[in-house]
Amino acid sequence: MKNKFYVTTPIYYPNDIPHIGHAYTTIIADVLARWNKFKGKKVFLLTGTDEHGKKIQAIAEKFNKKPKEFTDSLIPKFKDAWKKLNIDYDRFIRTTDKDHEKVVKEILQKIYNKGDIYKGTYKGLYCTGCEAYYTDKDLKKGYCPIHKTKLEKLEEDTYFFKLSKYKNKLIEFYKKNPKFILPKNKKKEILNRLNKGLLDLSISRTSFDWGIPLPFDKKHICYVWFDALLNYYTAVKKNKEFWPPDLQIVAKDIMWFHAVIWPAILMSAEIKLPESIFIHGYWTINKEKISKSRGKTININELISIAGVDSARYFLLREIPFGKDGDFSEQALINRHNNELADKLGNLVSRVEGLIAPLGVPFYTEFYGKKNSIEKCENKLIKKLNLKKIEKLFENYELDKVLNEIFAFVDICNEYVQNKKPWETKNKKVLYELKESILKIAELLWPFIPETSEKITKQFSAKKIIKSEVLFKKII
Ligand code: MSP
Repeated sequence: MKNKFYVTTPIYYPNDIPHIGHAYTTIIADVLARWNKFKGKKVFLLTGTDEHGKKIQAIAEKFNKKPKEFTDSLIPKFKDAWKKLNIDYDRFIRTTDKDHEKVVKEILQKIYNKGDIYKGTYKGLYCTGCEAYYTDKDLKKGYCPIHKTKLEKLEEDTYFFKLSKYKNKLIEFYKKNPKFILPKNKKKEILNRLNKGLLDLSISRTSFDWGIPLPFDKKHICYVWFDALLNYYTAVKKNKEFWPPDLQIVAKDIMWFHAVIWPAILMSAEIKLPESIFIHGYWTINKEKISKSRGKTININELISIAGVDSARYFLLREIPFGKDGDFSEQALINRHNNELADKLGNLVSRVEGLIAPLGVPFYTEFYGKKNSIEKCENKLIKKLNLKKIEKLFENYELDKVLNEIFAFVDICNEYVQNKKPWETKNKKVLYELKESILKIAELLWPFIPETSEKITKQFSAKKIIKSEVLFKKII
């Protein structure tokens, strides 16, 4: 089935409530899902939580809870956040779901049977924050490169996945599929690291028990990343027509897992690989990584309370070019809300509404009442909208530029009102052109700001347009 779009977010660790970083990835996925839906494709948007492993076990212990009991208490926070942000997902997967456990065991057994898993001893360094192994050369001044914490020395019996066997196959795959790792600079980073060598991956632990036991040796618990990555496969196992994912969105912290380990597992399991892994940048606060312990975080309720849901969605996608880092500031959000959503879009809608409202139903009948009347009425204004360019930008996931392009057209419409002065000339044709253009703008903005878009569409499709409430109240 080509006419489909399967898009995924990472499954988040439910060790705390979600923040703007998680919201960013999830909103991007939602925007692209909505756009593809609008284009007539069958869409599946997947998100969820990554619940096994030492990190979750440790935090649950801190709260005197069983791991599952602990994660159960956090899942509603994620679901509530996505609901408030209007994320229209098709499945919220939890790695503790029964069907997922089954898939993980099946794949492990399959890979084991073909000889890609062997037993050995692991000696090395582990960061529980990352749930990842590091070698000496990965470290920064002896500490975890991400968390800047001390690493744990591990020595235990473990099963290894023959990751090294896939090094050349991966490089070959990247060459044949130039869109597999996006953007290009990230592909370079991955290739540089890959060319330095690829070690086999330890995929089981015996020192704790919160996870899925290996089907061929129950004393061993499956490594949390091996388990987690397979969620993307579990989620559509019953809807096979969606496989493989068309787009998997992650930030750079976990690009190695998605661009190297994940495709190697799929190659070994003889499952078709995803089309594209898109790696975006980080949101920071005062130029520092978001971190609850240092008080540098903004949760979803705080985000929405600044200027509403649509302004939050708009801001996150408009503020930074896709793939780059960005610094979050409440004032920057308010500025975009005031200057772009209120002054440009809100103003256009309210002016045109105000001009059409007194004309009542006869306005509608004149332009839409008779057969073919719309076709007969040429719309010069709407022709200034570069739809081809917008489609291309969407295809390249350049969502900030899509918004730029739509808002350039909003500017053109505002200038049109100003120059044509329909309140003086009483030229209804101009109002017709504006009305149609506003409906088009609403349609194109639907993936980004669905609530506002639906309001505008409803209002401007009515036979009798009436003056309604302002869309965006300015925040002073
Ligand atoms: N559980 C793993 C993912 C497993 S996927 C098979 C994990 N979870 S996480 O909760 O740490 O989420 C990481 C992801 O959240 C990032 O890759 C990114 O999508 C999003 N972000 C978290 N913080 C972020 C920022 N500060 N900025 C942008 N995105 C951020 O890793």
